Amino acid sequence: MSIRSERKEEHLKLAQMFFNKQKYNSFDQLHLLRPALPETKVDTQILGVEMFKKRVSAPFFINAMTGGSQESKVVNKALGHVAAKEKIALALGSASILAKEEDQLDSFYVARNEDPDGVLIININPETPVEATNKIIHELNADALQIHLNTVQEIAMPEGDRNFFWLDHIKALHDQIDLPIIIKEVGFGLDEATIHTLKNAGIEYFDIAGSGGTNFAQIENARNSRDVSYLEDLGLSTVVSALMAKKEDVNFIVSGGVRNPLDVLKGLVLGGQYVGISNVFLQEYNQNGVAGLEQFISAWKNELAALIAIYGQNSLASLPQIKKYYDLPLKNQIDQLL
Ligand code: FNR
Repeated sequence: MSIRSERKEEHLKLAQMFFNKQKYNSFDQLHLLRPALPETKVDTQILGVEMFKKRVSAPFFINAMTGGSQESKVVNKALGHVAAKEKIALALGSASILAKEEDQLDSFYVARNEDPDGVLIININPETPVEATNKIIHELNADALQIHLNTVQEIAMPEGDRNFFWLDHIKALHDQIDLPIIIKEVGFGLDEATIHTLKNAGIEYFDIAGSGGTNFAQIENARNSRDVSYLEDLGLSTVVSALMAKKEDVNFIVSGGVRNPLDVLKGLVLGGQYVGISNVFLQEYNQNGVAGLEQFISAWKNELAALIAIYGQNSLASLPQIKKYYDLPLKNQIDQLL
């Protein structure tokens, strides 16, 4: 097995090992005001939404995780199957490995094969050559392209990159690729200045992937012979990062630490167009298999519709109007940063 494939398998193992279902995060410091007289009904139909020119049944999706190894192939086939059954979008893990190891295509393609008509988002690192990226997009019939920014993770990896001049190549990808491009973090959050710079470069979508859920410094620290655990605290929380994206007036996805349908609702109230979930879905699959994850996602739709009714709303579009308030530690961060 190549070092890259080996790393993918280690990430899957460590994401399971460090999984903490109830981990406290910024969503807990954000509260929504609820009308006692809502004048609404529970209706899952209102969850349907357009995503990259296709219709999906819910505004939340399975966010980028894996591909490029034997175990990844099994997981991606399962995720593709569930995405098709539940009619939600699926982002695959970084496919940059295909620029060097074409024989790993199958470990990604299994997901598209399970869900030929669904929304499939491809993920690459910001150094992947344009030609290779176009080939991957074509082979997987992708609907959108995520480019991940992951400096903390790279530094935490002994074999990681040490050169982060990425902007020019992101511009080249943007100019030469005919698909919506989403700039994404991997759990440390996108800050306002970065969103601003990339917005000016023409980028239209951002996946803020803030801190509060999967922590890649923790995962890479476990693979590193040196202790780099101090990197675990460098993240910008999901709520603060979402507020920054909102301030920049861009289309954004809220992700990072989404644990339940209430977190999904909060992501939508913050102004996210869609909400991405990675490890919570992966661990549901690990525990209860394909059928278990399918039921889990179906239940989330019912619960999200129920929450929307509790908060007195009848559509996704009106959710940002729900009044929100913050616990003081979060308010303090917002006051200093925004
Ligand atoms: C990830 N994540 C990720 N992100 C990315 O852009 N490219 C990738 O290849 C991967 N790989 C990956 C593997 C595994 C096993 C996990 C759990 C996660 C990061 C992911 O998309 C997300 O940004 C973070 O996990 C935070 O979201 P959660 O897990 O807290 O919902």
